[in-house]
Amino acid sequence: MWMFGLMSALLLTGIPVPPASPADEIERKIAALLRQMTLEEKLGQLQMLDGDVDGSYRPDHLDLVRRGLVGAFLNVRGARRVNELQRIAVEESRLKIPLLFGFDVLHGYRTIFPVPLAEASSWDPEAVQRAASIAAAEARAAGVTWTFAPMVDIARDPRWGRIVEGSGEDPHLGSVMARARVRGFQGHDYSASDRVLACAKHFVGYGAAEGGRDYNTTDMSERTLREIYLPPFKAAVEAGVGTIMSAFNDLSGIPASANPFTLTTILRGEWKFDGVVLSDYTAIEELMAHGLAADGAEAARYALDAGVDMEMVSRLYSRHVPQLIKEGKLSMATLDEAVRRVLRIKFRLGLFERPYADEARERAVLLRPEHRAAAREMAARSIVLLKNEGHLLPLSKTVRTLAVIGPLADDQRNLLGPWSGDGRAEDVVAILSGITAKLGPTARVLHARGCEITDCSSREIAEAVRLARQAEVAIVVVGESAEMSGEAASRASLDLPGRQLELVKAIHATGTPTVVLLVNGRPLTIPWIAEHVPAILETWFAGTEAGHAIADVLFGDVNPGGKLPVTFPRSVGQIPIYYNHKRTGRPPNPTNKYTSKYLDEEVTPLFPFGYGLSYSQFQISHLQLSRQRIRPDESLTVSVEVENIGSRTGDEVVQLYICDVAASVTRPVRELKGFRRITLRPGEKGRITFTLGPEHLGFYDRQMQFIVEPGEFRIFVGTSSVGGLEASFEVVQ
Ligand code: GLC
Repeated sequence: MWMFGLMSALLLTGIPVPPASPADEIERKIAALLRQMTLEEKLGQLQMLDGDVDGSYRPDHLDLVRRGLVGAFLNVRGARRVNELQRIAVEESRLKIPLLFGFDVLHGYRTIFPVPLAEASSWDPEAVQRAASIAAAEARAAGVTWTFAPMVDIARDPRWGRIVEGSGEDPHLGSVMARARVRGFQGHDYSASDRVLACAKHFVGYGAAEGGRDYNTTDMSERTLREIYLPPFKAAVEAGVGTIMSAFNDLSGIPASANPFTLTTILRGEWKFDGVVLSDYTAIEELMAHGLAADGAEAARYALDAGVDMEMVSRLYSRHVPQLIKEGKLSMATLDEAVRRVLRIKFRLGLFERPYADEARERAVLLRPEHRAAAREMAARSIVLLKNEGHLLPLSKTVRTLAVIGPLADDQRNLLGPWSGDGRAEDVVAILSGITAKLGPTARVLHARGCEITDCSSREIAEAVRLARQAEVAIVVVGESAEMSGEAASRASLDLPGRQLELVKAIHATGTPTVVLLVNGRPLTIPWIAEHVPAILETWFAGTEAGHAIADVLFGDVNPGGKLPVTFPRSVGQIPIYYNHKRTGRPPNPTNKYTSKYLDEEVTPLFPFGYGLSYSQFQISHLQLSRQRIRPDESLTVSVEVENIGSRTGDEVVQLYICDVAASVTRPVRELKGFRRITLRPGEKGRITFTLGPEHLGFYDRQMQFIVEPGEFRIFVGTSSVGGLEASFEVVQ
């Protein structure tokens, strides 16, 4: 504001005044609008209302729009419908403030990419960014200006169904993927006709739900909050994310949607975030259920005062804020600041100049061949080869008889996964179709479901066994339904649902070489399969092009290079079993009873974080450090040589981990601090160099200050969170 005063003073002196910057121009327009707005119109900007799941709007909302009492909608989509509502706002309301249209576009709008956990398995941020940019282009063409993505919650408990929506258990990988998705969705300027406003969610700690039970309590130290759950949000803010969504969960006694420490002290104070905070769906109303707010008025006051600007679906702000202000329990300044933030992103989106969607553009952009091609490539890069005994894979394209079995072999709907935007089952290439297309008419491809995902009759298994006996190879496609992942989809067991394991065992017992394809949105406990089946591919929910992508990998047109972004436990009893755990005073020792382990289970996971095989083999050597000693504010480089010693071109993901050997606060056994996916031809060598600096080596000390402490650090460079080449260096005062 002082800028305007200064400029007018300068004008009087005749000194040439520099033209106002675009940002200052926006602030001037916001101030001018605010001065005209009634209290009801201000509250209207803080109200998001819901459309129907099919994308239509509720007729009774039209009048609210006309009276300027709504600022945004969620789920309303499609250029024509969006324009119908927008026209009322822009041409019939008093102040003509355009609406925002938000939608959950997490992994595609109409062209559906692999679920986010699958995309994270690619360890390829450039590919992930491209997927997000395509999703943005399709969404914006359909009138969606705001996506409720990326979901950046760290998830260490695979019982939590929403693990599928994020990038797994690690803060570094999660931060890299958060930046990639924000840049993909927003680009450099989200007013562009093929970009959307992004929304990092769910702020904060939602993934730490006790028992992996969705919406359950989270309780953690500030150090865990800052070192594990906040980093991907900070990365998103640093990448310029325009909005943040506040979460449902009780966060150490103060619900995340009413928590001034996270929403104001950290988000606004430390990170200087000037965007909008949107509540999750009725999360403000739920402050009463939490037992924080005695009534709706108190819920509204807690949330607005803590820093939640816009209310999703519940309507406590519009109902109670006028009286709260009248009673002096809320200040007009607080309200104005929230409205200012909402208007700011509407100006930054270019909605005042270009409020309408282009229906012709929508038809031209959705499901374009190049979008499908990108989805196919992303899906193939997301596949993780978990086992390949005897090099059973890749299969030969000259195979004459193949059996493709399982409840997810000829399925389209489930392959979209949860939160599949406007994706259509009929667009999906089923796995059976992808295989048939790959082999052409010469091969005999036999198919039987064998069982359903959750139940089946033994007759069906018998039919599947009969077909497997006729085949040279049996491919068994098992896993979860899309509804078993995502929101409100926590599972107390991570076993294959129904009688799918029985089906796998029956097919394996025929003696026909068996390949298992997993279709799932979370780690599954598959110890029998891991021990007995020679080849296993983790394909996740692979999206619209699933069948083609999986066939590309099965038959060797793509060499799989994915790595697990989350630990696979042997049994649910091992949870939590994330890799970056503390050492304890009694680390597990099989020869000493009195150490940290189980009587009835291993302490190691079934498959570790960062693990994944290839059809090639890679050798890492020549680990070099630029220095043996550095000061706390200095950096060093770590480099290794990678060689493809196999017979196929392939990718390896080289991973760098550190361990702070002794510190004033105990540190994890390992922490991922760098990774690079590299493609090498047979015999080709590459050199990869990482930089380690204070931002990698530091931690929050006993006074919660981020410091780098002198002492020994060990580093590990390898192809998973287990093993690798080791070295050490010292930080000296
Ligand atoms: C849901 C989810 C959130 C989503 C929102 C709108 O409850 O928690 O991730 O963006 O509502 O659909």
